[in-house]
Amino acid sequence: MMRQGKKVHVNAFGETPMESVDEYVEIVDQAYPDTTSLNSKDVVLQVKSSAIGWVDLMMTSGQYQHQPRLPYTPGLEYSGVVLWKGDDVSHVDIGDRVMVDGFLCGPRTSGPYQKYGGFSTYAVAPKEAIIPIPESLNFDQACNLLGSYETAYYCLKTSGGLQAGETVLIHGASGATGMAAVHIAKLLGATVIATGRSDEKLSIVKSQGADYVINTSPTNKEDKVSKFRTEVKSLTGGKGVDVVYDGVGGAISEESLRCVKFGARFLIVGWASTPFVAKGKGKRGAPNANRLPTNLILMKGLKVLGSPMVIATQNDISIRTQRLKDIFRWVEDGKISPYVSHVFSMADIKEAMRAKWNGKIIGGAAVRPDVELI
Ligand SMILES: NC(=O)c1ccc[n+]([C@@H]2O[C@H](COP(=O)([O-])OP(=O)(O)OC[C@H]3O[C@@H](n4cnc5c(N)ncnc54)[C@H](OP(=O)(O)O)[C@@H]3O)[C@@H](O)[C@H]2O)c1
Repeated sequence: MMRQGKKVHVNAFGETPMESVDEYVEIVDQAYPDTTSLNSKDVVLQVKSSAIGWVDLMMTSGQYQHQPRLPYTPGLEYSGVVLWKGDDVSHVDIGDRVMVDGFLCGPRTSGPYQKYGGFSTYAVAPKEAIIPIPESLNFDQACNLLGSYETAYYCLKTSGGLQAGETVLIHGASGATGMAAVHIAKLLGATVIATGRSDEKLSIVKSQGADYVINTSPTNKEDKVSKFRTEVKSLTGGKGVDVVYDGVGGAISEESLRCVKFGARFLIVGWASTPFVAKGKGKRGAPNANRLPTNLILMKGLKVLGSPMVIATQNDISIRTQRLKDIFRWVEDGKISPYVSHVFSMADIKEAMRAKWNGKIIGGAAVRPDVELI
């Protein structure tokens, strides 16, 4: 007899993620799934850990491109142990450590598995979404692997064509996708200049492999970011970088246009500094979209490349095969080990989501459901 579990519910889309956390996020009871109603290819997991991603936050206000049906349970990517499996599941056994593929289950999907997010004691996923966890990863690292490393790989390699010997400027390098980008860029043989706003976080980024770090906090009150072009130019012998990985947006983007080589690739990855591009409460639209000056783009012969990992993969699934092979090979070889700075109990889910929003996390973060099972 399985115990009653718990899960997080988002009951309505807030105006902002933090309004959602304050007003619409709650913990409710969760019964063990009724396995008589499940499919022969289904798997029931006891969730051990779930990543707390930027997308998990943006989804709570309906400002992410995909909106789940309300109420929903957040947690795009999670890991756990197999509690039950249908007759057609043969690649894992009861008790195995597994992680899920967020493309095939959880809140970013549209079908029957959407309701099973990782912020919960139990989850159900189809066998295609169940991946055995490589031995070198713990549960917290496993759920922080795919979203971040697939994004970094797609942006740098597939979209940006980053080559060994090139130099890449990585913004938001202390974040989940940014730290993954530092790791992947080094594995591809590039020189990495990483940026952020905190020396403390940047020292970790450096210890994780960045060749150089630059604190972009302004020294001058009137500026939004420092004039980091000077440092980037000096680190590149006056030439500028070959590739910019921009997960931050806003003022960082514009200053970046001033420290690139002619013909550089500018990867638009995200806009952590200007999150309210779309309207809140799930109303969509993009009234506050970032803008880039066309004069600088022209003069630098820049290739500005919108790099949406999920959308591009849904558009052409074939780009994922080699990506997954490379990522898992690097994990098996001990070359990728996701950095997870904070692990929270699910009872503290609001604090956890606030910490992620307020930049307290370095690399990945995870929440662990705290109900003991018998
Ligand atoms: N293209 C894609 O396929 C894809 C996939 C996933 C995510 N994304 C997007 O990429 C962006 C980063 O995602 P993530 O998961 O890496 O987020 P994250 O873990 O929260 O990291 C974002 C980083 O941005 C930096 N930052 C600089 N200015 C900021 C500001 N004003 N407010 C908040 N953070 C600021 C922070 O570093 P410091 O504090 O050190 O400055 C922070 O570590 C988001 O916009 C996300 O939507 C894109």
